[in-house]
Amino acid sequence: MSFEDRLQQHVAAVEKALEESLQYDAEADRMGCRDSRNALNELYGSMRHAVLAGGKRLRPFLVLETAALFGVGYEQALPCATALEMLHSYSLVHDDLPAMDDSDLRRGKPTVHKVWDDATAILAGDGLLTEAFAVLAREETHPDPAVRIELVAALSRGAGALGMVGGQMIDLSDIRSELGLDGITHLQALKTGALIAFSCEAGAILGRATAEERRALRRYADCIGLAFQVVDDLLDGDLSPEEAGKPTGVDDHMGKATFVGLLGRDQARQKAADLVEEAKSSLDLFGAKAQTLRDVADFVLKRRS
Ligand code: IPE
Ligand code: IPE
Ligand code: MG
Ligand code: MG
Ligand code: MG
Repeated sequence: MSFEDRLQQHVAAVEKALEESLQYDAEADRMGCRDSRNALNELYGSMRHAVLAGGKRLRPFLVLETAALFGVGYEQALPCATALEMLHSYSLVHDDLPAMDDSDLRRGKPTVHKVWDDATAILAGDGLLTEAFAVLAREETHPDPAVRIELVAALSRGAGALGMVGGQMIDLSDIRSELGLDGITHLQALKTGALIAFSCEAGAILGRATAEERRALRRYADCIGLAFQVVDDLLDGDLSPEEAGKPTGVDDHMGKATFVGLLGRDQARQKAADLVEEAKSSLDLFGAKAQTLRDVADFVLKRRS
């Protein structure tokens, strides 16, 4: 099967699982009265809009493919993959709020706060964040509670104050425009890298990988995480909002230092290419069975959205 077919097949499975898991369950809401149910339907509608509006599904694909390295079937890895996509989608809903990036467009559609309002967008994000951990805690995610706890701990690290949330804080801070290469690398390692690192760590946890295998996957994830962000900076200058499905040229406009701004376009592209090569070579110990992950690394470099 070609890489594109495999990606498409797994994305379809992830979207089906997301679609099924984000339904308002009036049965579970035993205390509900008819009037307040309308509000809950709206909340679920906004959560579904955020998650099902499209997106590359790169992170869940990485969960499925790293798990597959260890013989974990994609159905077994699917709950963990969907939990991560819920969490990632929450981060985008909050990122787009007027108090943060004030974006009207996400994944080619109006943002949650535009379709509903700011309060609903905050709550939709809160709902998705919480649901992600609920999914990880469920028995169907893994029969062994110790594995589930390890997943919960790893995702809280990746998503929390020393992970994605910390990266968002640095991104919005006063010193943001003055950051040099080290500062931007640190910021991006937290803002984008930490959740991409979790994608690969999750597969390793589900597959009970050895310490050496985990180290190799961590290096792979760190390299593609950074390459992903360098490419994001390049695309931010290249694409129209229609092509990107979100506003572009924003970082420049806000005077934020970026890899492209500091290195220039050619050197930034070279940096991304070098990182992708390093990512691929860190998979050597897995041999031929890591081919799809090598293809993911190339996809990160070649992507146009
Ligand atoms: C967007 O992530 C936010 C960044 C970290 C740059 P993606 O580019 O993976 O967004 P979707 O999930 O495909 O919409
Ligand atoms: C958002 O970063 C990343 C997270 C939500 C963690 P950006 O603000 O750079 O992403 P886009 O450009 O809106 O997708
Ligand atoms: Mg932002
Ligand atoms: Mg943004
Ligand atoms: Mg950006």
